[in-house]
Amino acid sequence: MSHIGSYDERVKNFSWSISEKELDYKPGDLINIGWYCTDRICEQGKGDKTAFIWEGMTGEERRYTFHDIRRASNTIGAFLKNQGIRPEDRVCLFLDRVPELYFGFLGILKIGAIAQPLFSAFGDEALLVRMKDAQTKAIITQRKHIAKVRRIRDQLPWLEHIFIVDYDGKHPLQEKETAFALDREKPVEKLDVYSTQAESPSVLHYTSGTTGQPKGVKHVHYSLISQYLTSKWVLDLHEDDIYWCTADPGWVTGTSYGIIGPWSLGITQCVLDKGFSAEAWYAFIEKHKISVWYSAPTAIRSLMKAGEEAVKKHDLSSLRHLTSVGEPLNAEAVIWSEKVFGLPFLDTYWQTETGSIMISNYPDMRVKPGSMGKPFPGIEAAVLDPATHEPFKEPGKIGLIAFKPGWPAMMRTYWNNEETYRAKFKNGWYLSGDRSSIDKEGYFWFTGRDDDVINTGGHLVSPFEVESALLEHEFVAESAVVSKPDEVNMEVVKAFITLKPGVETNDDTELKIMNFIRKKLSPLAMPQEIEFVDSLPKTRSGKIMRRLLHAREWGEEIGDTSTLENEE
Ligand code: PRX
Repeated sequence: MSHIGSYDERVKNFSWSISEKELDYKPGDLINIGWYCTDRICEQGKGDKTAFIWEGMTGEERRYTFHDIRRASNTIGAFLKNQGIRPEDRVCLFLDRVPELYFGFLGILKIGAIAQPLFSAFGDEALLVRMKDAQTKAIITQRKHIAKVRRIRDQLPWLEHIFIVDYDGKHPLQEKETAFALDREKPVEKLDVYSTQAESPSVLHYTSGTTGQPKGVKHVHYSLISQYLTSKWVLDLHEDDIYWCTADPGWVTGTSYGIIGPWSLGITQCVLDKGFSAEAWYAFIEKHKISVWYSAPTAIRSLMKAGEEAVKKHDLSSLRHLTSVGEPLNAEAVIWSEKVFGLPFLDTYWQTETGSIMISNYPDMRVKPGSMGKPFPGIEAAVLDPATHEPFKEPGKIGLIAFKPGWPAMMRTYWNNEETYRAKFKNGWYLSGDRSSIDKEGYFWFTGRDDDVINTGGHLVSPFEVESALLEHEFVAESAVVSKPDEVNMEVVKAFITLKPGVETNDDTELKIMNFIRKKLSPLAMPQEIEFVDSLPKTRSGKIMRRLLHAREWGEEIGDTSTLENEE
């Protein structure tokens, strides 16, 4: 049993004031995530403790104490302020997992501005729509990504600054560009942290839906109250742990649990700025004696593929607690991890919108492989009847996963899109857009999404975004994008295309289309397969029936298509 008591006890005695007290926060106080993650830890006398162990692509390693990350975030914050960045301005972080990404995130929050992290592999179009929507004032990036920014900046009238963290002086800087080198700036020992309050905006994460452009999920500084306690109780972080979150901060896991949660607890965390390989990952765990690991099902399935032999080559005895998020964690993966690491991966479920873990397995609770576990204490979760939006009374029925709003890390709105935000609530419940059932013992069993969004390797892809990119190509008449099964990524993107008259169906056509959309989309959203068809199935009102194509790919019963044809 863990040091904090059993799950049931914690549920019974729960109040968010437990977290507030541990953080010395009282309602009405100022609260700033950047300060909590650095200055407060130093004030507690832990300034010389290692905060960050970073390893780059070529194996170079850098280590930073809490004093170092406090100073680095001060330095970036002060620089941004001097450049005219004001509270609530949106500052985009468009960086690989370099140290400046982590320190920049905290520096932006310290001066009251809003951090907008975007995955550095995003193509022009993906970057453009997100920066346009947020009216982003500044972007912090690297040389290797500057070409993308240069290609779109004329379409971004609000963008005043482009900061380059690794400028080498070889090519002249262009309009609006400024070089910023952390190691050449005078370290700022003291920074006036902006007086952010509980409801002051902190982070803007973009997430994809079925229709329309990606939505900007607005979070506030008070989210810390959830992120701190879930990190402590679910990730089970203890003072001497060495923690590794494999997620990129372009996604919410990489900020809530790759920056905020662990550092607000004063925990040492590691980052590997390198693509996936089983060998590299195991070597990383062994080298840094990682004890707590937060990863994702696709990575775990890839490790399974690499086999048990790869595990045996390394001493992984430092591992104590394994957790997973982002997609369904299949029972086989849990059983496999128990066999090879001697520990099960514990599944956690949440979303960009929820800001923190909502349903989870806990160190002291029996794991049922394949189940997502139970709601975090203080979270009221239910499965609603889709017809009435009332919770099912009996266990075992599949319905909509819903939460009673009010936990600290809940999104406050969708940026510029209050209407879509409001539509997420029914009968006083927040609808997650996912489906599951609850068993007799209160465990949740995920069954799927309630919309057409594709979850490939843990990354949400909007079919609409891919279809829009395809339709911009001169050869394409119509397109429909669905998922198809995949052993490792669970599902991948497949595009059906009808071509304009006179265009030939051949490999050259496919290549041209693929090359065209590659520049617009992130590599994760790229179709793994294109199928040219003469026509697409449509409803009577002319809407493309993605559902039918999806069913075909998954070998599911298509059912009565005449009713589908009548669908609006
Ligand atoms: O469909 C669910 C799936 O990922 C969605 C949220 O994605 P995103 O906002 O990108 O955040 C991912 C990381 C927090 C959910 O609506 N999802 C997330 N965790 C799980 C999951 N599906 C099944 N099991 C999970 N544990």
